[in-house]
Amino acid sequence: MEKHIEDILRKISFGAITVATITLVMMILRTPETCIVEKKPMVKFPKSSCDSSHRQHLPLEKKNQRLWSSKSWNQQVRAHMLHFQQLQRLNLLFNHSKVLCVSAGAGHEVMALNRLGVADVTGVELMDSLPLVSRADPHNLPFFDEVFDLAFTAHLTEALFPSRFASEMERTVKNDGLCVVLVEQCGVQELKEIVGLFRKSRLIDAVNITFIGSNVTRILMRTTRVSA
Ligand SMILES: *[C@@H]1O[C@H](CO)[C@@H](O)[C@H](O)[C@H]1NC(C)=O
Repeated sequence: MEKHIEDILRKISFGAITVATITLVMMILRTPETCIVEKKPMVKFPKSSCDSSHRQHLPLEKKNQRLWSSKSWNQQVRAHMLHFQQLQRLNLLFNHSKVLCVSAGAGHEVMALNRLGVADVTGVELMDSLPLVSRADPHNLPFFDEVFDLAFTAHLTEALFPSRFASEMERTVKNDGLCVVLVEQCGVQELKEIVGLFRKSRLIDAVNITFIGSNVTRILMRTTRVSA
């Protein structure tokens, strides 16, 4: 009787060892589940997060070529060209103007100005996008006082500290220079608040324009420093 039970136990443990061994071998051979395997093969990305093979490095020039030929890029550049052209017609922007674009993103507005013939354009953003945009904190611009004829931004309302953002724009434009701000279409009260952020400027003009299908307000202000 006891021998019979011993026999069964031995068979069970042998079975268990076999199963454990097979499981172990399968675990070694299988890709661990922590690897995220791409279903569709993509050219730019490795096959899985565990793939240590050499990645193809896309040179900046090629990357920019791809970006600048995209439909949405060109749509945004054209939209910026339209509102900057209005400034040209108002004799507020010239080919020789020195322009600063703050929070310029990937640089749509910089390219738009260049295409219109404005050559001296500086674009800054927290992350650089060379060659159009270099890295700088909009709250602490790395420029001397009164160097630009015009400072432009489409991202004032998203700034962490809008009043600091505004005062840096004002500081870097010349006396009688322009601060131009694009915001979502705003009412009188909101307009007052935005203009109020620019303490050394006066409002020249605020117009509602369409920008790629959405309504925005373009606010034009001129700095008026009192000379000591
Ligand atoms: C400004 O530059 C553009 C593009 O180079 C040119 O077509 C235009 O004639 C220039 N405007 C003036 C006033 O020189």
